[in-house]
Amino acid sequence: MKIIKNIKDLRNQLIGQRRIAFVPTMGHIHDGHLSLIRLAKLHGDPVICSIFVNPLQFGKNEDFETYPRSLDSDISKLQKEGIYVLFIPEIREMYPHQQEFHISASEKIFSTLEGEYRPKFFTGVTTVVLKLFQCVEPQVAIFGKKDYQQLLVIKKMCEQFFINTKIIAAETVRDRDGLALSSRNSYLNKADRTKAPILYKCLVNASQKIYDLNQVNNLDNKSINIIEQDTTNILNQNGWNTEYVKICKQENLEKPTAIELSNKTNLVILAASWLGSTRLIDNLEIQFKS
Ligand code: PAJ
Repeated sequence: MKIIKNIKDLRNQLIGQRRIAFVPTMGHIHDGHLSLIRLAKLHGDPVICSIFVNPLQFGKNEDFETYPRSLDSDISKLQKEGIYVLFIPEIREMYPHQQEFHISASEKIFSTLEGEYRPKFFTGVTTVVLKLFQCVEPQVAIFGKKDYQQLLVIKKMCEQFFINTKIIAAETVRDRDGLALSSRNSYLNKADRTKAPILYKCLVNASQKIYDLNQVNNLDNKSINIIEQDTTNILNQNGWNTEYVKICKQENLEKPTAIELSNKTNLVILAASWLGSTRLIDNLEIQFKS
């Protein structure tokens, strides 16, 4: 595995490669990231991974400074995966000047769910992903369903800018107790770590209610609102501070209409909630049709 820090060397290293599979990350590598790399191997060769904690996607009061960084152990984990290049640019390499061009998108895409609570997040993510794509020029790139809205936003960006990179979705990797793996789980203290799986359990319970109502053709917007509210209440009664629990259409994260519900459109339930000082997000697909 070659470790490359600057764009010029990266481009030289990748000359002539036509089947590059790319996995961008912010590091503190866990099994979720490694699953993306394994999936990348099935879709391309060579596999390139990046680690870059992107300041642009953190709000003023967010955790950019304290975001977990563990480059040495990341390198040894990635080395075992046999990837071709690990790209680890410094901030001044990715942002040599004040970034004056940014990706913007309609409110519908950037200002709902995560975007409502993290207003600059998607501008930061899409801008850095576009920059990374320009450096790597991948034929495919892998993103996790763990960040469901991010995956959709990046797919849409590629579609609308005719970016010649196929986006492939990877399933969420969870701990044995159901907690979705995340670099930010390292913020959890012992007591909060034992409570953390509640989030996923709540999503599973909510999805079961939806399947049950659908079975008897009783799924409508009223019942969806009640399930969202009940799930929020259960989390908050267990000491969480919930930002949102939303049941949306998988295809665009908009609210399903009554007709779409009766047509059994595929749904996804998404949640963001604080456990102490740690913000966790998770989601679960509700699949009526394959
Ligand atoms: P990061 O949080 O490091 O995640 C990198 C990739 O790993 C993302 O595609 C994310 O969805 C995926 N991932 C995280 N946890 C996962 C899990 N438990 N199972 C499967 N995949 C998982 O997401 C980012 O970095 C950044 O926003 C980035 C896209 C790199 C842009 O800066």
